[in-house]
Amino acid sequence: MNKYRIAVIPGDGIGVDTINEALATLATVCEVHGGLSLEFEQFPWGCTYYLQHGRMMPEDGLSTLAGFDSILFGAVGYPSVPDHVSLWGLLLPLRQHFDQYINLRPVKLLEGIPGPLRDKGPAEINMVCIRENTEGEYAGVGGRVHRGMDSEVAVQTAVFTRSGVERVLRYGFELAMRRPRRELVSVTKSNALQYSMVFWDEVLADLKKEYPEVTCRQYHVDALAARMITAPESLDVVAGSNLFGDILTDLGGALQGSLGIPPSGNINPEHRYPSLFEPVHGSAPDIAGKGIANPIAAIWAASMMLEHLGEADSADLIMRAINAVTAAGRVLTPDLGGRATTIEVGEAIRQQLRVLGN
Ligand code: NAD
Ligand code: IPM
Ligand code: MN
Repeated sequence: MNKYRIAVIPGDGIGVDTINEALATLATVCEVHGGLSLEFEQFPWGCTYYLQHGRMMPEDGLSTLAGFDSILFGAVGYPSVPDHVSLWGLLLPLRQHFDQYINLRPVKLLEGIPGPLRDKGPAEINMVCIRENTEGEYAGVGGRVHRGMDSEVAVQTAVFTRSGVERVLRYGFELAMRRPRRELVSVTKSNALQYSMVFWDEVLADLKKEYPEVTCRQYHVDALAARMITAPESLDVVAGSNLFGDILTDLGGALQGSLGIPPSGNINPEHRYPSLFEPVHGSAPDIAGKGIANPIAAIWAASMMLEHLGEADSADLIMRAINAVTAAGRVLTPDLGGRATTIEVGEAIRQQLRVLGN
């Protein structure tokens, strides 16, 4: 029996409903598999916790999480707490503290989902974005002075280190080597950002020599955003900085038909610390409490978690079940044009798991 201990942080808004479906789905995978056991411990951290305790998680939150094999995360942030307070109180410190320097985000159109682009189907929209996840524009370095005065100044400094850029690009080259096309796209903005992004390009140029089998192309982020729409089939593995990766993967969500679909793996590739798996989307206050959030992103994130834990067969089983449900097109949430609830979509996926797993 392969056993794993999973910390679960549902967080705020639709994070709670969608993580419930991910947990129920993982329980079904364990039933069907027989040789897999997952022990879950839930932590009620987030904006409600903040209003009661004045912090997003307890002081020893990070050391509590350190003992788990993985973290499954819903979404954090709600209008009751300023976003920069909630995010710097919970999610962003986990990414940095657990050195989850790779943020892996597949952009893959599922079967049966009519994406927003005419003539571009699952064969054309199938890329993976590698987002640097611990430094860059999100380093958290900066300050404000002379608050409220005419002379007020705000400084937010992007930090790029050689080791930080190199390890993310190396991950990109290695991933490209494992995919049939062996192509890596690096996304920067080195025409305007003459220090950080030119540095990124230089690190890329050095590393490229170690991977002669990989075809490497470079785009500026503005041009790449357009290319994702006009020629998504020209993109396979895309690596970029923290902020660029953030923006491009919401665009990726739109290409997949809804932000309710794409997952995100915040990964420490060395397994020195627990990795964290979550949807790309946030807490969606506009639909929270209505029971209609799409649970696919959270369930796909659970599949990524199993993959990272070394349970590739179970991870693949979940993906086949998700695709069977989207291909049939009968049980879909309103974001995909359907009328089903969050729970009904979760149930449909679990029903497929039982069919496919037996
Ligand atoms: P959002 O992703 O929460 O929502 C954007 C839009 O997409 C909304 O219209 C929403 O209804 C829709 N949407 C998102 N997920 C959906 C799903 N599963 N099913 C159906 N529709 C879905 O982004 P936002 O509105 O910019 O942010 C809301 C809050 O979430 C903020 O507090 C923000 O800081 C936070 N946030 C957290 C995370 C995270 O925890 N990883 C990610 C993004 C945003
Ligand atoms: C994401 C989110 C976060 C990010 C926010 C909530 C800080 O948008 O995971 O994509 O920008 O990384
Ligand atoms: Mn984002």
